[in-house]
Amino acid sequence: MNLKIAVLPGDGVGDEVTAQAVRVLQTIAQHENHQFEFTEMPIGGVGITKKNSPLPDETLEVCLNSDAVLLGAVGAPEFDHLKGEMRCEAGLLKLRKRLGAFANLRPSVCYEALADCSPLKTEIVAGADILIVRELLGGLYFGEPRQIETNGANREAYNTMRYSAAEIERVARVAFEAAQTRGKKVTSVDKANVLETSQLWRETVNKIAPEYPEITVEHLYVDACAMALVTNPKRFDVILTENLFGDILSDEAAVLTGSLGMLGSASIGGAVGLYEPVHGSAPDIAGKNIANPIGAIASAAMLLRYSAQLEKSAQNVESAIVKVLSNGHRTADLSKSNNTIGTSEMGDLIVENLEEIYKANRAFSAT
Ligand code: IPM
Ligand code: MN
Repeated sequence: MNLKIAVLPGDGVGDEVTAQAVRVLQTIAQHENHQFEFTEMPIGGVGITKKNSPLPDETLEVCLNSDAVLLGAVGAPEFDHLKGEMRCEAGLLKLRKRLGAFANLRPSVCYEALADCSPLKTEIVAGADILIVRELLGGLYFGEPRQIETNGANREAYNTMRYSAAEIERVARVAFEAAQTRGKKVTSVDKANVLETSQLWRETVNKIAPEYPEITVEHLYVDACAMALVTNPKRFDVILTENLFGDILSDEAAVLTGSLGMLGSASIGGAVGLYEPVHGSAPDIAGKNIANPIGAIASAAMLLRYSAQLEKSAQNVESAIVKVLSNGHRTADLSKSNNTIGTSEMGDLIVENLEEIYKANRAFSAT
């Protein structure tokens, strides 16, 4: 298989963690005889420094001409004063929009080996396995009008939460289809007791639900969902929700996994899939080789799954991650002890374990 992958390391720890994800993909390509072609391009603060734009035209062009985009993180304190379209985050939002990536899949799995890393009680988190399907191109993030207005001494600001039924329906279908391959339950999260957008959301989900008779559907208000995520996370399978609710709930769900550094994500539905860890650029720990690369590596696994249709390879990467964690290896975010490993060492161990998996497979097919 030939795969063109645009690599956008971005800011802060983006560089370090993406490098490990690329190594993992190279290992897969080598063992399965694929041609993966990587093209590195600037985004975020790096884009501003090099090309005076958080999403330079050349970067967007390479992304649109690729089969998948692997992104690190955007955002740096030295660019925090910038406004509007010059913000690092605006570059990422524009990229999501231009790729048409309307469904953001954020799995939050509590691996057995990490159950005691969560600040929540082990019996609450052990076995939790949630997929958040976050709408990514609508709601308050993109709604117009939006503005800060100054009238004399009065300053006023507004954003617009707006959804069409078509936007809700397409992301709801992604959630229903994902649930079919998992626990067969969709929890649609909204604020229908207050917001019209949520009332339309609920109505639209209910309208298409009969097309998926094997899926159980429930509706939950976002405030109740926020509480249930930390009191009874095992009640969830797939959570379907709008953009801002999904942003907030996915950080909260990260608590189940032991660290925000564990979570990968896939943004799909458009022409080109976008894969990025859920964590941010973490400028305070950048350049120190201490960031957890597992979120980025898990994103690479999702790239294999959704953009390359290499399900088995994706599973191999996920197995290698689990193996390394089961063997007790931890980056600093996952352990209070001094006995932690760095970003590149974690990458080394995952690559090594991946190679073991291929070696074992070869031995198996030879017998
Ligand atoms: C995320 C991030 C982004 C978002 C920011 C960086 C724009 O928090 O991917 O969750 O809000 O979507
Ligand atoms: Mn977020």
